Amino acid sequence: MRESHISSLVVATPEAMRELGNRIGRMLLEYQGPALCIAIEGELGAGKTTFVSGVLGSAGVRGPVRSPTYTLIEPYELAGRSLYHLDLYRLTDPSEIEPLGLRDLLTPGSILLIEWPSRAEGRIPPPDLALAIQYLDPPQDGRRVRITPGSPEVAELLRRLLR
Ligand SMILES: Nc1ncnc2c1ncn2[C@@H]1O[C@H](COP(=O)(O)OP(=O)(O)OP(=O)(O)O)[C@@H](O)[C@H]1O
Ligand SMILES: [Mg+2]
Repeated sequence: MRESHISSLVVATPEAMRELGNRIGRMLLEYQGPALCIAIEGELGAGKTTFVSGVLGSAGVRGPVRSPTYTLIEPYELAGRSLYHLDLYRLTDPSEIEPLGLRDLLTPGSILLIEWPSRAEGRIPPPDLALAIQYLDPPQDGRRVRITPGSPEVAELLRRLLR
């Protein structure tokens, strides 16, 4: 993956984070092909779930989205697509992801949105899109979001979206 493929954005508010999720969600829904794995890294409270709620909103989910911190996974059947929101914060060892049967979820058209992917290092597919969300230095309240596509196809979609 080349450094030049990374997009870096300042996202100033929760509303803008949701909107970014919404735009990327619409892009993902246009993509016809194998399952997509979206990895969302960021410290506690960085805005990962806010981003996911925007993606789910683009597929028709209304109302608040909560992280499946205890159940690890929340499935959504929407617009003929299967979306899965995972929050792996509570994994203490990557092997604990195995009972979720991730491989069975990787069917064409499905989209996996994974918070705390690092908790399952080596046990989840290489992401098609990786987001890294960082706090800006105080007193700024916003976030920096770095977006790295995992394939030339997704890189091209992203280029069109962000230009
Ligand atoms: N771009 C942003 N600028 C400022 N605040 C934001 C931004 N995005 C999200 N927030 C706020 O940050 C807080 C935490 O958001 P969120 O729950 O989405 O984080 P998270 O990364 O999922 O946290 P956790 O690690 O607990 O899962 C919320 O109050 C949300 O409104
Ligand atoms: Mg969260």
